[in-house]
Amino acid sequence: MKHKSLSALISSFNLFVFTFFLLSETTSCVDSQYEACVPKKCGGQSISYPFWIQGEQESYCGYPGFELTCQNNHSILQILENNYTVQEIFYGNQSIRISVSNLGSECLPPIRNLSLEVGTFKFASSDIPYLHILSNCSLSLPGGLLDYNRISCEAKNENVWGLALAMFGNNKNLSYALGKCETQVLAPVELNGYDVIGDYMEVLRMGFVLQWKASNCNECKASGRRCGFDASSYQFRCFCKDRPHRGRCKTRKSSVSLLSPILP
Ligand SMILES: *[C@@H]1O[C@H](CO)[C@@H](O)[C@H](O)[C@H]1NC(C)=O
Ligand SMILES: *[C@@H]1O[C@H](CO)[C@@H](O)[C@H](O)[C@H]1NC(C)=O
Ligand SMILES: *[C@@H]1O[C@H](CO)[C@@H](O)[C@H](O)[C@H]1NC(C)=O
Ligand SMILES: *[C@@H]1O[C@H](CO)[C@@H](O)[C@H](O)[C@H]1NC(C)=O
Ligand SMILES: *[C@@H]1O[C@H](CO)[C@@H](O)[C@H](O)[C@H]1NC(C)=O
Ligand SMILES: *[C@@H]1O[C@H](CO)[C@@H](O)[C@H](O)[C@H]1NC(C)=O
Repeated sequence: MKHKSLSALISSFNLFVFTFFLLSETTSCVDSQYEACVPKKCGGQSISYPFWIQGEQESYCGYPGFELTCQNNHSILQILENNYTVQEIFYGNQSIRISVSNLGSECLPPIRNLSLEVGTFKFASSDIPYLHILSNCSLSLPGGLLDYNRISCEAKNENVWGLALAMFGNNKNLSYALGKCETQVLAPVELNGYDVIGDYMEVLRMGFVLQWKASNCNECKASGRRCGFDASSYQFRCFCKDRPHRGRCKTRKSSVSLLSPILP
């Protein structure tokens, strides 16, 4: 009996605190930047700082160079001239798995060498394997090489790549093939490069992991706030419900002391 009334008292106190909390939330002004930077979904993926979706989120919700476009439920990241499909974003360890966009079943879209000079992203490891894609190769290549390394293309992309080959850097025929082809493009991949013959399209589709460089959001996010970036001062921002702060938000003492013994 005694126990019951005590729990009844606690739950009504809980209700009171909850109401108080709700009231204080609704009556205090909510920062518009905090509101604007609510995570958005593209496909099944939640997009938030340091990424932001062009046209759906404000640029201050993320870093410059981290803008994504959401196309047919896929997030597309453009790094210089290449478009990559975002396969997964690992917010916890600040890395992202991407792969070349618009890979057909057999054909390659036009791709360029990936340059990470902008300093926004870096490879997770220092010796990343590359798939060498050789284009406009001579038709006089030996049949064995063609059998194993040719990327067969539908007619529409033949004019982009011509007769194209793909091989890993440790392929003994690489230097020979380079002499028979006009240009090469290096596409980062994730294999160890020991597969002499492989499904090169599958390898490209698997993608690779990049780490990003941007102020860490974990602390800000853990305190229920949202991260962002101020382009004019070029500084990280943590948007609180009331107003932005550089780091942690100030918590109102009164609500903390009231809430902390009760909330689970
Ligand atoms: C995107 O996904 C949503 C929900 O799964 C679905 O309703 C919609 O048709 C998809 N849109 C496209 C363009 O695939
Ligand atoms: C990358 O995507 C952008 C935006 O959709 C587009 O304008 C551009 O032509 C694409 N680049 C390539 C190389 O496909
Ligand atoms: C981050 O974690 C994911 C999932 O565990 C992993 O696949 C990825 O390689 C990690 N990134 C780095 C840079 O280690
Ligand atoms: C190198 O090319 C020759 C044909 O000239 C072929 O028989 C051989 O299998 C190729 N080796 C590799 C590692 O692809
Ligand atoms: C292959 O040659 C054609 C015709 O000269 C050219 O238009 C195309 O850009 C070349 N492709 C590459 C990837 O160099
Ligand atoms: C891509 O990079 C490789 C290695 O640096 C270089 O040999 C090749 O010419 C580059 N390709 C293009 C199209 O610039």
